[in-house]
Amino acid sequence: MENIRILAIVGSLRKNSYNLQLAKEAEKYLKSKVNIEIIDFSEVPLLNQDIEFPAPAKVQEIREKIKKTDGIWFFTPEYNHFFPGVLKNLIDWLSRPVSDTEGSVLPGKPAAISGISPGMSGTGIAQDHLVTLLSFLNMDIMNVPRLTIPNAMQQLDKDGKLELKASAPYLVKEADAFIEFIKNRKQID
Ligand code: FNR
Repeated sequence: MENIRILAIVGSLRKNSYNLQLAKEAEKYLKSKVNIEIIDFSEVPLLNQDIEFPAPAKVQEIREKIKKTDGIWFFTPEYNHFFPGVLKNLIDWLSRPVSDTEGSVLPGKPAAISGISPGMSGTGIAQDHLVTLLSFLNMDIMNVPRLTIPNAMQQLDKDGKLELKASAPYLVKEADAFIEFIKNRKQID
């Protein structure tokens, strides 16, 4: 087991989210290799600067996890060719300084991006917008490979659960690439 921690952030709060299921597939593959955790951010409130300091407990908890992690893997749906507002809200919170003396927890953190959609786009356009945001926040983005899975319905089992078929090797490829990406960054540090 590598001494590497990865947090997965899923941009959908839906119980049966395909993106959550994709993150769970990644977790299944990675858990014998690294420490991986899928973050639950469903209780993070809408950002309002009136409640920024001290930050709500859930925001503080997620910031602490991010400080300790070596990389963040985003799994994003596509809503109207963008990533969902709930994800933007979370990232807005994380983009803010922790306190007068401590900055944001995001700059320099390695980031990977994937997504799945029932439509043809496979979340590629939403991912591009996410890249723009994460770049602005000075995250260290792994631009290649980035998994985009269209036509989710073609990879479901008879109960409607995600059963990665053609896309499975690409998920493994991205997972392995992200471990290498993180290892290279850790050596530089
Ligand atoms: C969608 N969906 C969608 N799909 C897509 O491929 N491109 C798009 O632009 C949109 N736009 C969109 C807007 C809104 C408001 C909703 C609610 C949905 C469909 C979307 O991909 C589908 O609901 C996925 O199942 C959402 O991801 P999760 O929740 O399954 O992870």
